[in-house]
Amino acid sequence: MAIKVYMSTAGRPLDPAEATISVFDRGFLYGDSVYETLRTAGGAFVDMRRHLERLRTSAAGIGLEVPYTDQEIRRIVRETCEAAANPDSYIRIVLTRGTGALMIDPRVSGDPQLVVIVKVLKQPPLALYERGISAAIVDVLKPGRRQLDPSLKTGNYLNSILALQEAIDGDAEDAILCNAAGAVAEGATSNVFMVSGGRVLTPSFETGLLKGITRTVVVELAESQGLEVLETTIMPDQLRAADEVFLTSSVRGVMPVTRLDGVAVKDGAVGPVTRRLLHAYREYIDAVARGEGGPS
Ligand code: PDD
Repeated sequence: MAIKVYMSTAGRPLDPAEATISVFDRGFLYGDSVYETLRTAGGAFVDMRRHLERLRTSAAGIGLEVPYTDQEIRRIVRETCEAAANPDSYIRIVLTRGTGALMIDPRVSGDPQLVVIVKVLKQPPLALYERGISAAIVDVLKPGRRQLDPSLKTGNYLNSILALQEAIDGDAEDAILCNAAGAVAEGATSNVFMVSGGRVLTPSFETGLLKGITRTVVVELAESQGLEVLETTIMPDQLRAADEVFLTSSVRGVMPVTRLDGVAVKDGAVGPVTRRLLHAYREYIDAVARGEGGPS
């Protein structure tokens, strides 16, 4: 089991010690980059098509040209996974605006730099899915569309880092951020769902959030199970009064939240709808592993 890093400057997968980036790279200097995090299941990419689509949307959103076709990126990621030879991989695809003079002017950058980091997939322990995590609705706000557009997955994560720091300082394990209007937007690195009266609610895209790929899959799974799903405005007090709360992301899947702002969500146990969706998402991943996940 290994970590391998593809760098476009080298043109091949490298060992981590060899995989070094210029101090003039704008990803390093300014977070001037876009990225995707995904995983494999049974060696197959999970939702690669949707991740590549979003990578392109993010790049277009910051005026960065992606000098690769999807097939080229898939080949590079596949080769890096093969070199790492892990049973299953955590994959991070990063595209930076490249190196340039020490000026923020995007026109002074050179060629975009592609980096693909592959390491062994390590998911939270099963016990955590049984007990659920604690989260805090933090003071740090989710920037609006005209600030650091949250619908773009850029390398600038300082806002999420500060939100998580605030949550940790308050003895919570994860952070939930609101937008400037006070509505619940998303987690530091996840989307938020709540269950109330058997209905599944999640903040609408208009709230200002990343259109999580797991969020989309979970909405599809919930609907296919006959659950009513509502993409809407959720205020913090509604979330605190929910029957169930959970977070979604590519690596963690469906993660129950059983404590919110230091108080138990309902009775503090993982609720039945969360359990159902957690299992449905695991089955979805298992289907990908068996090669029955459809085109990815
Ligand atoms: N984060 N919102 C934010 C701000 C995120 O960073 C992420 C993902 C999500 C969930 O998106 P998806 O379901 O497509 O993973 C929502 C990844 C896991 C990361 O930063 O590594």
